[in-house]
Formats: sequence, structure tokens, C-alpha cells
Amino acid sequence: MALERTFVMLKPDCVERRLAGKVLARFEEKGLRLVAMKLIQMTQKQAAEQYREHEGKGFYAGLVKFMTSAPCFVMVLEGASAVSVVRKLVGATNGRNAEPGTIRGDFGLSAGLNLVHASDGVERAKVEAGIFFRPEELVTPQNAIGHWIENSEDAS
Ligand code: RTP
Ligand code: MG
Repeated sequence: MALERTFVMLKPDCVERRLAGKVLARFEEKGLRLVAMKLIQMTQKQAAEQYREHEGKGFYAGLVKFMTSAPCFVMVLEGASAVSVVRKLVGATNGRNAEPGTIRGDFGLSAGLNLVHASDGVERAKVEAGIFFRPEELVTPQNAIGHWIENSEDAS
């Protein structure tokens, strides 16, 4: 079992449709844990770095315009095989092709406005997280309430 970290964005359509909580719940319910999360207004520079691989494609200009148009959540999630697990939860790029039960399959009909971004590899996740987070913004997960549950006593 490989403990991995992946980088995820809840895109402006997800935030504007007030689906951020629901989509985040899918990741949490699966067992992934948050290592970092914030609401941002993406800059042109960040969008250019994030989507460099798509430069020159027909949808590139529209994609950058959309991603910089309104706030989105960026986050780092940690868990067993997090990269592939999150990609499976997110589903195929185009909501019309995405399987029911996936986030894109359940909440959208669009290729561009597809609610979520998820990194496609561990190394890529590190690069993408680095575009949006300083290293010290990634917490070291710790179990805060295990002791409290085991002892059934209030923390003091
Ligand atoms: P993502 O990177 O956002 O997790 O999505 P993905 O791997 O499933 O898709 P990718 O091929 O990397 O495309 C990046 C994003 O570009 C937009 N797109 N629009 N109109 C179109 O045909 C089209 N194709 C891609 C989507 O927002 C996609 O998530
Ligand atoms: Mg991609």
C-alpha cells in the first residue's frame, strides 16, 4: 500500500453551484484526509503554469479564462493510492461520458465545466501543489481525538 498525496481543485463551476461541500464530502467519505486547503482567486501566472501541457490546444484560452474568472478551492489530499483513487472518484473528463457514481458523472454535462481537477501522478501532484501552496502550508496529519475517544474524557 502506497500512502500518496494528490492535488485537487474544486473549479469555479463547482464553487458557484454551491457543490463544494458535497464534492469535498466524497473525498472525505472515501477516507482521504486533508493536508491543505484554501479558497483562491487563480492568477494568470498560476493558470499558465498549471495548464502549460495544454497550451496550443483549442480549449486552452477558454480554460484559462474560466479558471481565473472566479474563486476555486485548491487542496492536497492524502491516502492509500490517493492519485488513482481520486481520479476514479472524479470520473472521465467529459461529464456526458463519466460514469454515474463519479463526481463528474453525477453533477455535470460538460467537458470544460467539469467541477474538479485531480493530478494524474504523484510527481505531477507535487509540482501542482507547489504552484498554489508554500511547503509550510501542508500540515503533518496527526490524530487529535484518538486519545479522547479511547478515554472518554474531555481533553484538558
Ligand atoms: P483535469 O486535468 O482538470 O483533472 O482533467 P482531465 O485530466 O480529465 O482532463 P485534461 O485532458 O487534463 O484537460 C484539462 C481540463 O481542460 C478542460 N477541457 N476542456 N472543451 C474541451 O474539449 C475540453 N477538454 C478539456 C477541462 O476542464 C479539463 O478538466
Ligand atoms: Mg489533466
